[in-house]
Amino acid sequence: MKIIKDHSLQQWNTFGINETAAAFVSVTSVEELKAALVHPEYSEHFILGGGSNLLLTQPIKGLCVHVNLKGIDLVEENDQEVIVEVQAGENWHDFVCWSLAQGYGGLENLSLIPGNVGTAPIQNIGAYGVELKDVFVGCTALRRKDVVLEDFDLNQVEFGYRTSFFKTKGKNQYIICSVRFRLTKQKHQLVTHYGAITTTLGDSPPSPQSIAKAVITIRQSKIPDPAVLGNSGSFFKNPVLTKQDFDALQQRYPQLPHYPQTDGTVKVPAGWLIDILGYKGKRIGDAGVHEHQALVLVNYGKATGAEILSLAREIQKAVYTEFAVTLESEVNIY
Ligand code: EPU
Repeated sequence: MKIIKDHSLQQWNTFGINETAAAFVSVTSVEELKAALVHPEYSEHFILGGGSNLLLTQPIKGLCVHVNLKGIDLVEENDQEVIVEVQAGENWHDFVCWSLAQGYGGLENLSLIPGNVGTAPIQNIGAYGVELKDVFVGCTALRRKDVVLEDFDLNQVEFGYRTSFFKTKGKNQYIICSVRFRLTKQKHQLVTHYGAITTTLGDSPPSPQSIAKAVITIRQSKIPDPAVLGNSGSFFKNPVLTKQDFDALQQRYPQLPHYPQTDGTVKVPAGWLIDILGYKGKRIGDAGVHEHQALVLVNYGKATGAEILSLAREIQKAVYTEFAVTLESEVNIY
């Protein structure tokens, strides 16, 4: 286990923010992870996964622990489905590609989401009508206070829209080490109703592979590749309004897109609210709002976390003033 002092994290966060960690270690086994947590020199730890949902606004104090556990194992199989256990440090999209190459269904709509497998359940990643919870069986996480492994099943993780137990009651108390997924070998549950999937599929018959291809095409047309332009995907969550608040807003903006939820509330796209206020493509120094998707904030090169945050705060204020809607950030701000 090699600890590096004053380590730049620019390569380790998809926003490409140049902050440092006082100390940095990349762990490749649960034993190393435990050792890092009980290391006598460090009382503060910052847990880093794929760095794709993180805005760094200051140097990281203490020991930054990069969870780099690798491996994919088939743990159960029958004619219909498989259960695979994936270590937390596997890249999410690489895992999706692996599953498609095996002919497994379930992850196709979640193609090309940045980040790692271990952090995906924390915010219940979702796209194009599918969320991680739809394929989740369970996970094993290290309890930080006594460095003991604990198993969680679907109910215990309490998934919601871009949230889970690990982002609420269990926040900062666990490190997810591995995740188990149920994937289909046949009779795939294909989801094609969302957005432009059907039109993008064109004449191709829907299959896990063709849907993945369509999702990749759509995402590439709207969401910038972090390797080219620093970003963290959607910076804000889509706000969920009471029916009463939504009705009042719709009176003023009849064209507002909206998604009624099963509990009577109505979700509205934050991107639309930000877009109509004229923020799409806006740039202040190297911090900006993406030109094709107003929900995505970008770093044109040398933006600091504070500059991105200041733009985010300005947007939140403008949205509140115009629509009386509070935008919550989806990205973790440190
Ligand atoms: N819209 C605009 N202007 C914009 C952006 C969006 O008018 O700049 C409108 C679109 O025309 C559409 C609606 O807003 O009517 C929704 O847009 P879109 O389908 O692109 O989805 P989104 O609500 O902006 C969500 C997720 C994305 C996910 C897509 C597709 C959240 C916070 N974001 O975005 O997730 O890829 O749906 O399922 O729920 C992420 O979480 O990082 C992420 C990228």
